[in-house]
Amino acid sequence: MPRFHVKTYGCQMNVHDGERMAETLVARGWTAADSPEDADLVVLNTCHIREKAAEKVYSDIGRLRPLKAARPGMRIAVAGCVAQAEGAEIVARAPAVDVVVGPQAIQDLPALLDRAALGEAVVETGFRPDEKFARLPPRRVRGPSAFLTVQEGCDKFCSFCVVPYTRGAEISRPLARLVAEAEMLVRQGVREVTLLGQNVNAWHGAEGGLAALIAALARIEGLWRIRYTTSHPNDMDEALIEAHGTQPKLMPYLHLPVQSGSDRILKAMNRKHRAEDYLRLVERLRAARPDLALSSDFIVGFPGETEDDFAQTLALVEAVGFASAYSFKFSPRPGTPAADRPAVDPHEADDRLRRLQALIDRQARAAQQAALGRTVRVLWDKPGRHPGQIAGRSEHAAAVHAEGEARLIGTITPVRLVAAAPHSLRGEIVPAA
Ligand code: SAH
Ligand code: SF4
Ligand code: F3S
Repeated sequence: MPRFHVKTYGCQMNVHDGERMAETLVARGWTAADSPEDADLVVLNTCHIREKAAEKVYSDIGRLRPLKAARPGMRIAVAGCVAQAEGAEIVARAPAVDVVVGPQAIQDLPALLDRAALGEAVVETGFRPDEKFARLPPRRVRGPSAFLTVQEGCDKFCSFCVVPYTRGAEISRPLARLVAEAEMLVRQGVREVTLLGQNVNAWHGAEGGLAALIAALARIEGLWRIRYTTSHPNDMDEALIEAHGTQPKLMPYLHLPVQSGSDRILKAMNRKHRAEDYLRLVERLRAARPDLALSSDFIVGFPGETEDDFAQTLALVEAVGFASAYSFKFSPRPGTPAADRPAVDPHEADDRLRRLQALIDRQARAAQQAALGRTVRVLWDKPGRHPGQIAGRSEHAAAVHAEGEARLIGTITPVRLVAAAPHSLRGEIVPAA
């Protein structure tokens, strides 16, 4: 049986595309290999969001080239957002590549491999999002947590971002299909779904928006938890905010990127919201769900950002208090409006990144400390790092591990949090009374 290995970079949307490509290959008789060394096909599922991420594909190909030379018949496919952005250029720069397949054409991977077997490299970067979901094989998942793509693409065109170009225009999958797919997942043992979209709360597959979809999914018996990511502040409508207070299956954790605390910079980013709008939104969300854990994304060193602008970002972080957050140094991306603007001094940008990350780390540690001693409900989803341990997530999406039997995986138990480790909280399962 031929074997494949998928290596994925980038966001959860890309992670999920990687899973779908694996499902597609398995449906055609392939089996998964743990490493490229054991694989007849290596799929590099790439990310184009920052320069560093995008360049990784070429160093990966460089490492695969000797493997391929030693093993005639081995093939290399490049998928993901670099495939979409660079298309045939990838083959020109790296002739070892056999197939280039964009995120909207992954359903064609097996057919593209057949074509490439005839000798010529094949490039497919068409946008046919309706076909993608119709033609992907039925889901086959293991474990209690699964992704469910509800929306793809982005029409927002933030001035720094490649996503509208690599993922195309916003499309929403219809409600009935999503409910059917969720039911299929639950039949396979799934207890928690994370609804995915580049702008998931821009979903408009039915009247009532994402809140209506969440309500429909919440009616599925056996589905215990619902999450969604990534949301845009401008698409948080009243119904969705309210759902955080009224829908018990909707978990109290929200990734809500803001990017900057300076209105001048937000405007230059084409974000179409001000810092104040974001703070108001956080207030309304917390009024609906006081214990909501918030996370966000920030870009520092955006062209034109002054020390004063940056101070406003720090002030926003102080004002909100995030459970976690990601911060990035601005990376000029080809084809985006911000790419040609005068850059901030790189040392200055590095220094701001360090200061912002220090503040975010402080807040994350404080959130962890505050959780110690509390009893939370954890959905166990996998074995822990050490024998005899299991790992899972709390309602607030905190990673938790504890001594426990593997048979608990797929169940929710109460857990008392006893210690904070860098990436996971240690807990003790509370015995049933
Ligand atoms: N759709 C989501 C996230 C998109 S990409 C949203 O709207 O927020 C994930 C994060 O990468 C972004 O939130 C942003 O913080 C960061 N990012 C995007 N483009 C970038 C660039 N050119 N340089 C640095 N960071 C970038
Ligand atoms: Fe990129 Fe902005 Fe769209 Fe998010 S909303 S994917 S940051 S363009
Ligand atoms: Fe990267 Fe594409 Fe996701 S650029 S962040 S893999 S949408």
